[in-house]
Amino acid sequence: MRSSAMRDMMAITARPEIISLAGGLPDTSTFPSETFAAEMDRITRTAVAEVLQYGPTEGTVLVREQITKIMAAEGMTVDAADVTVTTGGQQAIDLITKILIDPGDILICDAPTYPGAIPTFCSYEADIIQIECDADGMRMDLLEQTIADLAAKGRKPKFIYSIPTFQNPGGVTLSLERRKRLVALARQHEILVVEDNPYGLLRYEGETVPTLYSLDGGNYVVYIGTLSKILSAGLRIGWLVSPTPIREKVVLGKGASDLCTSSLTQDFAGHYFAHDPWREYVDELVGIYRNRRDAMIGAMSEYFPHGASWNKPHGGLFIWATLPDVLNTADLLAKALTKGVAFVPGTAAYVDGRGASSMRLNFSGVKEDEIIEGIRRIGSVAQEHLALYETMTNTNEMRLPDLDENGGNS
Ligand SMILES: Cc1ncc(COP(=O)(O)O)c(C=O)c1O
Repeated sequence: MRSSAMRDMMAITARPEIISLAGGLPDTSTFPSETFAAEMDRITRTAVAEVLQYGPTEGTVLVREQITKIMAAEGMTVDAADVTVTTGGQQAIDLITKILIDPGDILICDAPTYPGAIPTFCSYEADIIQIECDADGMRMDLLEQTIADLAAKGRKPKFIYSIPTFQNPGGVTLSLERRKRLVALARQHEILVVEDNPYGLLRYEGETVPTLYSLDGGNYVVYIGTLSKILSAGLRIGWLVSPTPIREKVVLGKGASDLCTSSLTQDFAGHYFAHDPWREYVDELVGIYRNRRDAMIGAMSEYFPHGASWNKPHGGLFIWATLPDVLNTADLLAKALTKGVAFVPGTAAYVDGRGASSMRLNFSGVKEDEIIEGIRRIGSVAQEHLALYETMTNTNEMRLPDLDENGGNS
């Protein structure tokens, strides 16, 4: 078992004096309280006994139908019968790993990958291979080579886990060409791909790219979604779409794990998506997060040291920044916390210690003025560490990391 860097920090970052750029928290303060009150009033008047009861393991019909509508908004055609409601997307990751992985089985994922998935994969004793991402997402040449190398040893990955759109933590999006290649590879080698897509609807610029699920039609691609980033993380509602043989096992696994997802929050969410203008709310979030992303990038240009690089994500909630490689972001974090600011150190997104000079920065959870102040503090801690390094090594010659094509460099 291994802990998640983000969960470890939750207790510290919940302190009001800390500016947290660490979590992946949506801004729930913008959700209209009248809408919340109206849903609760309806429940109080009409559905108390029902929402206080257990529900079906696979989820209520109403929520499953609404999920097909949400997926249709991203161009996917799905039958509600193929949807399993889960307790957050996190449980979907857990269940698919639980049913597919035996200790020592190989699982492939992005490098870097979602830090919250690593403890899950480790808890089922998967043998994790991470494939490097560049500005266009997971590199298909390296993936093909890895599959071929494994085949030469008589081995095959159980599945490929990827966040192709506005990746957590890298912020990058898999190009259309690579998406087609990934789906073709999955078919050719009969390997399942698990597409985790919490951020697809949070696009701030650029053209929509079809999901892996829509390119594949749901034969080799298992799809994970969540309401956490478009409505609320506190409802704990996610889902998994999979072909019947997998769905049956997922439902067995879920029953063993928590019987069912909360009937109360499913009722809330089902009615909200059926009757309220949820697209308008998502559009509002997109406007807010776009401004916050831009504020963060502006502050990084101003305060981060020479030689730092970062990307400008077209959507999602994260910026991935890399500092001069003499800096270790885990060390920086310890100092940054004393200055009242938190981020996720890059090593949390790898299983093998890579990412030591990188960091994941979240721009959705706090307002622009705090983002700017938080980045200023991280920048000053980084400058201090660099100055110390220069004094100790008596050099101004820093080794600089390569900049990617989107990389900013102040
Ligand atoms: C890629 C990814 N998958 C899954 C999750 C889990 O989300 P939840 O369990 O709140 O749906 C997150 C949360 O940040 C995420 O970024």
